[in-house]
Amino acid sequence: MRDALLVLAVLAALAAGLWAWRRCHYPSFWLALGFPLVALSVRASWRRVALGCNLTKKRQRFWFTTVPGLVASTGVVRVRRKWQRIAVDTKPFMWLPLPTRHGWRVTLHTLEGQTPGDYADAAERLAHSWGVHAIRVSSPRPGRVVLMATMRDPLVKVDELPPSPELLKVTVGRLETGKPWLIDFRTVPHWINAGATQSGKSNLANALIVGLARQPVALVGFDLKGGVEFTPYAPRLSALATCRAESVGLLDDLVALMIDRMGLCRQAGARNIWQLPPGVRPVPVVVLVDELAELYLMADKSEKDEIAKTSTALLRVAQLGRAFGIYLFCCGQRIGSDLGPGVTALRAQCSGRICHRVNDPETATMTLGDLDPAALVSARAIAAETPGVAIVAGQDGQWYRARSFYVTEQAAEHAARTHAHLTPAWDEITAHLPDYDPSHLLDA
Ligand SMILES: Nc1ncnc2c1ncn2[C@@H]1O[C@H](COP(=O)(O)OP(=O)(O)O)[C@@H](O)[C@H]1O
Ligand SMILES: [Mg+2]
Repeated sequence: MRDALLVLAVLAALAAGLWAWRRCHYPSFWLALGFPLVALSVRASWRRVALGCNLTKKRQRFWFTTVPGLVASTGVVRVRRKWQRIAVDTKPFMWLPLPTRHGWRVTLHTLEGQTPGDYADAAERLAHSWGVHAIRVSSPRPGRVVLMATMRDPLVKVDELPPSPELLKVTVGRLETGKPWLIDFRTVPHWINAGATQSGKSNLANALIVGLARQPVALVGFDLKGGVEFTPYAPRLSALATCRAESVGLLDDLVALMIDRMGLCRQAGARNIWQLPPGVRPVPVVVLVDELAELYLMADKSEKDEIAKTSTALLRVAQLGRAFGIYLFCCGQRIGSDLGPGVTALRAQCSGRICHRVNDPETATMTLGDLDPAALVSARAIAAETPGVAIVAGQDGQWYRARSFYVTEQAAEHAARTHAHLTPAWDEITAHLPDYDPSHLLDA
């Protein structure tokens, strides 16, 4: 009895110790104890899991089989073991799993006739079979696929990272892989940021404003919801349009600015402003649009011309802005062709795509385009409880699940006020612009 109690006490102490270890320092717990056990069980269950997920193939193999032999005089059937060639289910060859920050990854050799897509299709089934949060499939080279498993959703809580010191590069959150989520306007100049209300669009814009506020860039805002979103950040904004007339004027300025910079580059024999000597290089401009649909929404027929102008000007900025240091970040609930013919063309120019939680599958498809269908499934699975989670696609053709840091309006406002002295005046930026007739440019 005493012994039993002692054993129980020791077991309880051990369990408490393990629990405390896991709580206090999960990375070391995972590497030392969690991962080896998981790796063993993954290897041990691979045949069953592969069979269950239809990833096996029938192959002819020599195999020991049991065949009924002679019926003995006692009536007992004697079975014989026989070396025979039969069709067996073979599983894809699996290397040893390796630990990652939030789970593990393993390389497989595909069987004949299989593509990485077959594994991607089975990803959800694999995740359920192994009891992990998600499995992501990639293919480093033909004939190999890598399964990346995340044990738990790493985006439930994301902790802040230090700001990026590089120009036009902002760390806005974290990717599911644990890496920083970077928005880098120099590699991906124009972005679409879509999502339902309360999905975290404005939070991401706040994170962007906080990151850019400390950099030598000009920020320009379009907020046609009466300016309620961006007016508090006005100290750091070089220009802000809050109504249709203002937005038409501001877009004219932007187009004229772009054409002026074009001339500057042409004279200097440069292809873009980054090839100009730092002394004469104009300041980069990041254009933030809060609700894109508002720019295209027509209250009555009289606005038709203005909207057509807006649409053309925005498209020109998107087409030519990159080389001349003008970058777009467009937020909206729906960025579809139902807003007007210009929107599809604008969307095509925005290679950066961010899709927060959406209400309907079409919006996800519209935003993420023809990415991997798994990205669309993932976008539609974003829960309302985790605002700020989004599917992100940049130029590398890859997509990632990510979550922005929580940045309150107050924090963004504070950053805007603190760095107000860095705000280039719009009058100065546009001072030496010749008097272009913008309407003539737009009609061209
Ligand atoms: N990354 C995030 N982490 C935690 N909470 C967030 C995050 N992003 C947004 N939220 C919460 O969700 C709410 C809605 O976000 P918001 O950015 O205003 O959505 P939207 O602009 O899409 O309507 C915010 O008030 C905030 O509390
Ligand atoms: Mg908002």
